[in-house]
Amino acid sequence: MGKQSEKSTSFPSTDGIGYATAYRFLEEGACVLINGRNESKAREKRELLEKTFGKNRVFLYTGDTASENGISGISRYAEEIFGHIDCVVANLGCGKPMAQSSLDEEGWRKGFDINLFSAVKLIQAFDNLWEVDTGGSIITVSSLAAYNRISAPYAYAAAKQGIRVFSKYLSDDYAGRKIRVNSVIPGNVYYKGGRWEELLRQDEAGVKEYIESSVPLKRFAIPDEIADAIVFLASGRASFITGVALLVDGGQSRAVV
Ligand SMILES: NC(=O)c1ccc[n+]([C@@H]2O[C@H](COP(=O)([O-])OP(=O)(O)OC[C@H]3O[C@@H](n4cnc5c(N)ncnc54)[C@H](OP(=O)(O)O)[C@@H]3O)[C@@H](O)[C@H]2O)c1
Repeated sequence: MGKQSEKSTSFPSTDGIGYATAYRFLEEGACVLINGRNESKAREKRELLEKTFGKNRVFLYTGDTASENGISGISRYAEEIFGHIDCVVANLGCGKPMAQSSLDEEGWRKGFDINLFSAVKLIQAFDNLWEVDTGGSIITVSSLAAYNRISAPYAYAAAKQGIRVFSKYLSDDYAGRKIRVNSVIPGNVYYKGGRWEELLRQDEAGVKEYIESSVPLKRFAIPDEIADAIVFLASGRASFITGVALLVDGGQSRAVV
């Protein structure tokens, strides 16, 4: 397969924030490499994107990018299709497999593997694919759980805090290569098939009360609103912004920083 345009971007996923981000990047003229484990869902999502944006700008890697194999697979594929990259969105993360307040070591390892080490390893695997002269942009996806003590598993919150710290430190080291590194901090993001739909099914009144009482804008975010922040940070309009953690939470964070 030949090399694609200079504007290329790579990230999970085929649903939620990752899918909305892929859509926005395509609207901006970029090529995208999306990722998910479920092959049939992934193909369906790629076809949807191809219908709107054409066949030669949408690529798919199917595999578990929390695993070593998945990470080396996606980076090899990115090199094959793009040659060089100019943007990485490290979007993978999940609080679901972890017990809420567990002190179990295995749970902590799983939490850190999915929510922190997947991003560290992905960025490491892509390290020699950056354009030498023009650099690029890395955006990591943290969570409000890294700011506020909300109802999230301990390991998830700690790993999401780790992502912020990692991004800040990395921004300094990568600045010399003209690679900007920023983090986006979503609040509660609702999409069909996502975690919040599941929680609403379990306790609609409780979830609604939580949103009403803790989010000043009194609603969920939609994935497009997080995608817009990611695409802004990746764009030339954010050319002097690096090392930043951008909250997109409807005002929910109470921290004054
Ligand atoms: N939703 C929220 O309210 C919220 C709030 C704060 C932060 N965040 C963060 O935002 C990011 C995206 O969250 P989201 O809610 O949009 O989506 P999500 O439900 O966490 O993830 C959905 C997407 O990720 C893919 N995926 C999951 N595990 C994978 C793995 N091991 N390897 C490859 N692909 C995988 C899924 O495809 P397959 O199922 O086919 O693998 C699907 O395309 C996460 O880092 C999350 O922690 C979300």
